Amino acid sequence: MAEADFETYFHERASRFSSFYKSEKVARLLGRGPMYDRLEAAVYTAQALGVTSVLDVGCGSGPLFAPLAGQGIRVTGFDPADNMVAMAKREAAKFPGLVDVRQHGWEDLEDVDSYDLAMALGVFDYVDDAAGLLSRMGRAANHVVASFPAPGIRLELRKIRYGARGVVVHPYRATDFAGLAARAGMKEAGRYPLGQAGFVVHFTRPSVD
Ligand SMILES: C[S@@+](CC[C@H](N)C(=O)[O-])C[C@H]1O[C@@H](n2cnc3c(N)ncnc32)[C@H](O)[C@@H]1O
Repeated sequence: MAEADFETYFHERASRFSSFYKSEKVARLLGRGPMYDRLEAAVYTAQALGVTSVLDVGCGSGPLFAPLAGQGIRVTGFDPADNMVAMAKREAAKFPGLVDVRQHGWEDLEDVDSYDLAMALGVFDYVDDAAGLLSRMGRAANHVVASFPAPGIRLELRKIRYGARGVVVHPYRATDFAGLAARAGMKEAGRYPLGQAGFVVHFTRPSVD
């Protein structure tokens, strides 16, 4: 039930959520700076790894498309929410032949060794089976980059806001990632703090140096 509410929540709020990407300055004034910080950390990791293909899990309106496709990186984004997919398709059309958008949830991700890197920004926050999601991403790509929210007053407020719509928000501490990685058959390879807001974590398969 909670996972269906997660999809519905963002379907109904797609325009409002994506509007934070219109102006970084305004978003930061409104306390949404971590949305930009996590994008930057994810794109930085893609560049540092020299990847040529990325899977964008829960791509939303497609804020990762321009920074990745602009560097010639092929992107496949997917999201189950109708309104998010409509916006993502419009964004993808700006990068002909480089960005593909699909409509489904992570539960239907069956790709194996299909991408260099799988990303999920703002998704683990709402997923009950985090190890299930991470292991599917780790099956699709050698490298995984994902954001996680930290506990704190902002998260408590978000829990109340989202909880009223049946969406559960999961906080993570720095000490949680090694265990999560192990449950998913992955290992933690790096971590970038997002101030007090949370973390962007880089996971790899155990066989990757
Ligand atoms: C907080 S938004 C983040 C969107 C985008 N990644 C970003 O950084 O702007 C979470 C996204 O996860 C999507 N979502 C909901 N249920 C999902 C599922 N089962 N699998 C994958 N994504 C899902 C929502 O529709 C929404 O677009």
